[in-house]
Amino acid sequence: MIEFRGVTKRFPDGTVAVDDLDLQVEDGGITVFVGPSGCGKTTSLRMVNRMIDATEGTILVNGRDVMQTDAAELRRGIGYVIQQAGLFPHRTIVDNIATVPLLLGWNRKKARERALELMQTVGLTPEMAERYPTQLSGGQQQRVGVARALAADPPVLLMDEPFSAVDPVVRESLQDELLKLQSELGKTIVFVTHDIDEAVKLGDRVAVFRVGGRLAQYDEPGVLLARPADDFVDNFVGRDRGYRGLSFLSSKTMPLHPLRTARSGERTEQGWTLILDDDGRPLGWHHDRRGGAAVDVEHLVPGGSLYEVASGSLRSALDAALSSPSGQGVAIDDDGRAVGAVAADDVLDALAAARRDEAA
Ligand SMILES: Nc1ncnc2c1ncn2[C@@H]1O[C@H](COP(=O)(O)OP(=O)(O)O)[C@@H](O)[C@H]1O
Ligand SMILES: [Mg+2]
Repeated sequence: MIEFRGVTKRFPDGTVAVDDLDLQVEDGGITVFVGPSGCGKTTSLRMVNRMIDATEGTILVNGRDVMQTDAAELRRGIGYVIQQAGLFPHRTIVDNIATVPLLLGWNRKKARERALELMQTVGLTPEMAERYPTQLSGGQQQRVGVARALAADPPVLLMDEPFSAVDPVVRESLQDELLKLQSELGKTIVFVTHDIDEAVKLGDRVAVFRVGGRLAQYDEPGVLLARPADDFVDNFVGRDRGYRGLSFLSSKTMPLHPLRTARSGERTEQGWTLILDDDGRPLGWHHDRRGGAAVDVEHLVPGGSLYEVASGSLRSALDAALSSPSGQGVAIDDDGRAVGAVAADDVLDALAAARRDEAA
């Protein structure tokens, strides 16, 4: 168990990032810290493994005051995963994952075997072992980050917005896999996010923070949604309530626009073109200011703009459109091939239509 007792963090410039925090994280579940940007989530997390030291109060991990524990020893029992995975760019995937076991003095063969086993656990294929991080997609890199954090089999995992930078389709599958992993491995996980939907989906218990590092409410997700403690929580969980409703509507029936596509080396028209590989799967966007430029696949604009047309929701379609550099969300089929485009306005129209049908 992790326990915060009257914990305050005041930075040298006077900023109070966390203010008198009392909170207990139960063993073997996922506890989520959620709240708007700047409310002290990261600071709270980093005080647990002593990357930041509290100014006042006590943090106990399994009954031991972290300040009385050797920092290196403490961190051996605590895996840490951050956004964009924080991988070492010049080490292969297998070496990234084996980092901690090697530091602990395992021999290379054993560390490597452990890394390969973990790659399987997090859904990476063995042939990725010798690649470098940039040769993997964002979602795959996050999986490596999780595998690395699990390498020494720590009982506790701290995860700071690990999925915020990946596109919505991948984010959902990473969330599902984390839930599965948690149920199999029974780790104690503290997970930070700014996204209330993610908090509600993953958390056994959810702590809502408000700016100034104050805990507004700490409850099971159902209680949080049904009985928000005050107006702040009500607003925070109720924000985008309409938007959240999008998650329950399928994107399947939404009409698609034709999508302008090209392949490597081809010349494009003015504006945005989606570049496809030989199998028709999206590689990224190409922007042509005047028209007639040849596509260079080394210089595409990435963009989390994909959603699965058969299984996706209107929300994933809207996220796709809103996060796409071209303003177009790309619908992909079960094989990952681009089949058409949607704009954010289309999604909102589809929502309005669905509501009319419901009312009728
Ligand atoms: N090293 C620092 N020095 C001064 N202020 C900081 C430092 N780190 C974070 N803060 C401030 O503390 C507050 C909480 O930050 P943080 O814990 O990163 O919030 P969150 O993760 O919820 O976005 C913010 O106001 C932030 O600007
Ligand atoms: Mg943060």
